[in-house]
Amino acid sequence: PKDIFVTNLMAKMTLEEKLGQLNLPTSGDITTGQANSSNVAKNIEQGKVGGLFNIKSVQKIKEVQKIAVEKTRLKIPLLFGMDVIHGYETTFPIPLALSCTWDLDLIKRSAQIAAQEASADGINWTFSPMVDISRDPRWGRVSEGNGEDPFLGSQIAKAMVKGYQGDDLSKNNTILSCVKHFALYGAPEAGREYNTVDMSRIRMYNDYFPPYKAAIDAGVGSVMASFNEVDGIPATANKWLMTDVLRKQWGFKGFVVTDYTAIMEMEYHGIGDMQTVSALALNAGVEMDMVSEGFLNTLKKSLEEGKVTIDKIDDAVRLILNAKYDLGLFQDPYKYCDANRAKTEIFTNSNRSEARKIAAQSLVLLKNAPFPLGTTGGGILPLKKSGTIAVIGPLADAKENMAGTWSVATKQENSISLIAGIKSAVGNSAKVLYAKGSNLDYDAVLEEKATMFGKTLHRDNRTAAELLAEAINIANQSDVILAALGESAEFSGECSSRTNLEIPQAQKDLLQELLKLGKPVVLVLFNGRPLVLKQENETVPAILEVWFAGSEAGYAIADVLFGDENPSGKLTTTFPRSLGQVPIYYASKNTGRPLGNSEGKFEKFKSNYIDERNEPLFPFGFGLSYTTFEYSNMKLSSTKMNTNDKLKVSVDVTNTGNYDGKEVVQLYIRDLVGSVTRPIKELKGFQKTALKKGEKQTITFEISIEDLKFYNSDLQFNAEPGYFEVFVGGNSDTQLNEKFELVN
Ligand code: IFM
Repeated sequence: PKDIFVTNLMAKMTLEEKLGQLNLPTSGDITTGQANSSNVAKNIEQGKVGGLFNIKSVQKIKEVQKIAVEKTRLKIPLLFGMDVIHGYETTFPIPLALSCTWDLDLIKRSAQIAAQEASADGINWTFSPMVDISRDPRWGRVSEGNGEDPFLGSQIAKAMVKGYQGDDLSKNNTILSCVKHFALYGAPEAGREYNTVDMSRIRMYNDYFPPYKAAIDAGVGSVMASFNEVDGIPATANKWLMTDVLRKQWGFKGFVVTDYTAIMEMEYHGIGDMQTVSALALNAGVEMDMVSEGFLNTLKKSLEEGKVTIDKIDDAVRLILNAKYDLGLFQDPYKYCDANRAKTEIFTNSNRSEARKIAAQSLVLLKNAPFPLGTTGGGILPLKKSGTIAVIGPLADAKENMAGTWSVATKQENSISLIAGIKSAVGNSAKVLYAKGSNLDYDAVLEEKATMFGKTLHRDNRTAAELLAEAINIANQSDVILAALGESAEFSGECSSRTNLEIPQAQKDLLQELLKLGKPVVLVLFNGRPLVLKQENETVPAILEVWFAGSEAGYAIADVLFGDENPSGKLTTTFPRSLGQVPIYYASKNTGRPLGNSEGKFEKFKSNYIDERNEPLFPFGFGLSYTTFEYSNMKLSSTKMNTNDKLKVSVDVTNTGNYDGKEVVQLYIRDLVGSVTRPIKELKGFQKTALKKGEKQTITFEISIEDLKFYNSDLQFNAEPGYFEVFVGGNSDTQLNEKFELVN
């Protein structure tokens, strides 16, 4: 019926109406969406619009949908898109943080709740998940991805797509998902936003493509092309990428949308004028033009001149109409416009309490040493809910920074700041004092960006000396100091590349002044990317990585600081010791001159630095708990594996500390000899398990032939017979391993 319906509809369409379906303008104001009073409304009425994005609220969306279904000739409903990236009004941690839960059910649940809230507010299409692998923390959008690893990234991509789309897109609480940014957007040279990408195909296929493919396999309905070039051709006009890889090799059946003005930007890339680049994009396999209006204004001419065919235009129109059909919009264009749902299903107590739990699991305990440093005994966390607690720093009372980047629907006034979370956790049993201590050190550019997204940043006009004096006075009255420092939300996200990965200097200085007081200090670190924390790691007893944990951030952080939740997050991206190590990632190659057991010492004519060790400060997969876990008794079901076998790997994990806790048990493999060089470790399995204090569990993994496959230099995906090492442990630096042989 879909095919017949769409074919019949297309038979009635004029060329102009067809091109209208390929056109995706923005509503104008990103948060308020004033489409009705703008040019866009006129275009909709004339059948020149296929969808609209960044318009918010049932009432506004209904008004606009009404124009499409009542005033246009063919009454074709519109798609309504939005960047629902990590939640809607109930905001979850930024995606990088979410990935640190290593909990696919929770991640999927966050997408389900986001879909439920967005659909209750009129939205039927989200530009998420972003699954771009990135190994360069200078790039600001590492915050929006799932870290550096293709295996974990693929699992998360699937979970997100399933969460948004469910099993049935025609339900009213599921929405169309759009995987982005295809492809390689996370690998710009020097980490500079929108910069050139140049990568070998073997690396694309092995390391960067898997999460996009996983989203396609999970049935994602749309794909967004990336801004960057791939092999010298912008992704938006790259036929190899959009047709050969995406459709022919991977079997994608949905539609491709460009990124914002990406067609127009190809003029700047230098591959032709507007007419040329529009035709190139269509011919490459792109169906929808976001904002450029290149399809709308030039494809007719290109058709007349034989530069595109009507079949190509028809193919594109069909895919967009198919999506509308799948969403059930032809049956009921207003199915997402139920004002009652908008009142009862958004930012509900139950959604918020789920967000709080998820947020708590995304935090990563990077350090928990005794105080004073160098003494023996337990770490200073968890804190007691007693005495006087000083909460100091520019991120302590900063609701506007809790949700993090790309949280378009968040009402920042509803977010829970750290200080609010701490106060609510301790009630009357402890005294909580606050001082700002320093400014964030953001500049006017960041302020402008925040304003663009409808957010505010609060400057404090006091001098640095005045801010510091107040902080020292407060700190002197306390038993413990929580230093809430790091990046503001807009330090990361789109167009927030940095060349310095330190905590901003004003805040570093504040921290060192606080440490001089000789009191226990916990660094509560807000940030959207790996930072260089060498100095902090040497001087501060405890570091809790809290990212931007969403609307419930303050509650979740307090839950962890006071031990109501035991931290269980693990890093999904490597934290370098110094900026010069970037890009740094665990799945590196051995090289022909690897270091021996140098214990951090420089070795001449080996692959290392004269001024820095090779290892990161915190490796991929790392994260502490208030309890401790020990690994023992690793066993393989056999030392040989046939291609049809499944090899079982088991290991005993024991909770040897004083708290119940959760551990992410990780399995890595190393292919010792290949026709092409292979990484020294690759994640191939993980299980997050809860262990009571004293409990021992046997965790079992299965390795199948699929886990041993890789793309060789002919880009064939095969496993090669030979020896493999298997590693298990609590992070990528684990040395516990066994060997097996893959035999034919
Ligand atoms: O979805 C985003 C994309 O990630 C970056 N450019 C703008 C798009 C739409 O808002």
